[in-house]
Amino acid sequence: MLLKKTFIFTLLAMFAGGTLLAQNFKYIGASKCKMCHNKAPKGEQYNVWLKGPHAGAMKSLSSEKSMEIAKAKGIADPTTDAGCLKCHSTVGHIDAKLVASIKIDEGVSCESCHGPGSMYKGVSVMKNRELSMKKGLILPTEEVCVTCHNEESPTYKPFNYEEKVALMAHPDPSK
Ligand code: HEC
Ligand code: HEC
Ligand code: HEC
Ligand code: HEC
Repeated sequence: MLLKKTFIFTLLAMFAGGTLLAQNFKYIGASKCKMCHNKAPKGEQYNVWLKGPHAGAMKSLSSEKSMEIAKAKGIADPTTDAGCLKCHSTVGHIDAKLVASIKIDEGVSCESCHGPGSMYKGVSVMKNRELSMKKGLILPTEEVCVTCHNEESPTYKPFNYEEKVALMAHPDPSK
């Protein structure tokens, strides 16, 4: 009886905390963010990302170096291996059920750092930071980066947040 009560309370707490709702947040892909986040006066985040280190993360998996790493590990094709995709593509990093329209070739896309965009992408939500965050937006800190930048990476380099974030920053200069 006591167990049953505890179970119901836990379930209620999950509803209240939005834990179940979070499953409705899906990944929509960078082209959707591009519509609003690619204007030069506001920092053209899409172009900065495209030229930065993350958008090409899938291409690296077909490089010679990648093939060498894969061979040493007994992996036939790193571009389809779940163990490589889990850090080199947003799609490989998430539960397949949460894929709405994001593509695997986007590599490490906006939503790996900013959270799944399906519910915050509307302009009236986006203009309200608090509401955006309730609907899945993340303003990332080092914690997000180290889900990939860690010793599980076969080419791991020590990760200094301040230094690394400067290499991929895309601030809005109008703010
Ligand atoms: C319909 C237009 C639109 C779309 C689509 C959109 N955004 Fe936004 N976003 C905005 C607006 C407007 C703001 C408010 C700040 C500003 O004026 O730039 C904003 C703010 C942000 C911020 C800063 C939040 C803050 O409070 O500092 C982030 C991060 C962000 N968007 C990421 C994304 C990502 C990632 C996507 C795609 C999944 C996306 N946005 C899609 C319009 C949009
Ligand atoms: C989903 C996994 C993932 C997340 C999250 C992630 N990265 Fe990366 N990052 C990568 C991969 C994979 C590469 C290598 C891309 C390539 O060259 O193929 C990379 C490369 C880089 C590079 C260039 C290589 C280097 O080490 O100098 C920088 C800088 C970087 N990331 C910074 C960051 C920062 C800062 C964050 C957090 C705000 C972050 N990354 C979050 C996966 C990720
Ligand atoms: C735990 C996350 C993670 C996993 C798993 C992972 N990578 Fe990476 N990879 C990264 C990050 C982060 C970088 C950026 C450099 C660094 O710090 O290692 C990177 C960089 C690379 C690079 C570019 C290295 C350079 O400096 O030129 C290659 C090639 C690569 N990875 C291949 C692979 C292959 C092949 C696999 C699967 C066997 C794999 N990675 C698995 C996170 C990962
Ligand atoms: C590797 C992680 C990473 C990726 C990928 C990434 N961002 Fe960001 N983004 C950040 C970080 C870190 C900040 C700074 C957060 C802060 O100011 O608290 C940021 C800030 C922003 C801001 C706010 C800028 C400002 O000065 O107000 C916008 C808008 C934004 N990102 C949009 C995007 C869009 C659109 C994409 C994809 C095209 C993208 N980001 C990809 C990590 C990332």
